[in-house]
Amino acid sequence: MSQIIPRHLDVDFSQVPRHWMAGSPTATAIANGVNLLFPHGERFFVRSVKRYLDQIEDPELRAAIKGFFGQEGRHAHAHDEFNAIMRAQGFEIDRFLTSYKKLSSWLEAHTPPKLNLAVTAAAELFTAILAEGAFTQRVLDNAAPEVRALLAWHAAEEIEHKAVAFDVLQRVDPSYALRIAGLAYATITLGGFWLWGAVTLLRQERLGVLGGWRDLGRMPRRDPIVRRVFLRGIRQYLARDFHPSHNATDNIAAEWMAERGMSMPGASSEAA
Ligand SMILES: [Fe+2]
Ligand SMILES: [Fe+2]
Repeated sequence: MSQIIPRHLDVDFSQVPRHWMAGSPTATAIANGVNLLFPHGERFFVRSVKRYLDQIEDPELRAAIKGFFGQEGRHAHAHDEFNAIMRAQGFEIDRFLTSYKKLSSWLEAHTPPKLNLAVTAAAELFTAILAEGAFTQRVLDNAAPEVRALLAWHAAEEIEHKAVAFDVLQRVDPSYALRIAGLAYATITLGGFWLWGAVTLLRQERLGVLGGWRDLGRMPRRDPIVRRVFLRGIRQYLARDFHPSHNATDNIAAEWMAERGMSMPGASSEAA
């Protein structure tokens, strides 16, 4: 397992345009729909894994878990800052965030801890596939520079820690049925919350369904998230011998950044 290093991103989001993704209100709303979910969602991932830290004796996996906590804590913090910019841009996001937090916290409290861990392992596959697409589908090339820096950093670290929750789940309970239950739960909740967030933002753009569709059609390339992220993830995860390392993505972030003269932020020594 390669080293998992928490890094600190220092980017000023105050000049980010409202439609930061290719100038498109629709594409921006779709991307912001998942951005809204990150702070609360990633803190849930950390809680789900932390509960089982004591059961993990392997020092290499324990070190990876600590790195995972550090990375997700920083992602949550950076996306909190990004959400604040969305408020400043005039988006009403707090009603959505309050309902999303309330519902997801209720679900977490009423779900057995092992299933919460399985949900996290599956959600981490989806975030790793999203991260892969950010680089290979050149999604980030259409983003405003500050958001490109945020999402490139986030995506690179998602790829780095893509196997941690899965490996913890395998040690805690390697049951295939549990893994697949986590997949079903993660697909419904991540897909549902993302759609809800994106629709909440799109309604504020007042484009209507047809206007939104036309706007998306102007994008350089349509990004079929349902097929590319969810269906691919589900298909992969159903294989009994699946492991996140089967997706050979270790070098794609570094190569993408090098092509654009970018580099990763420095390692952070502060606590998450
Ligand atoms: Fe993250
Ligand atoms: Fe993650």
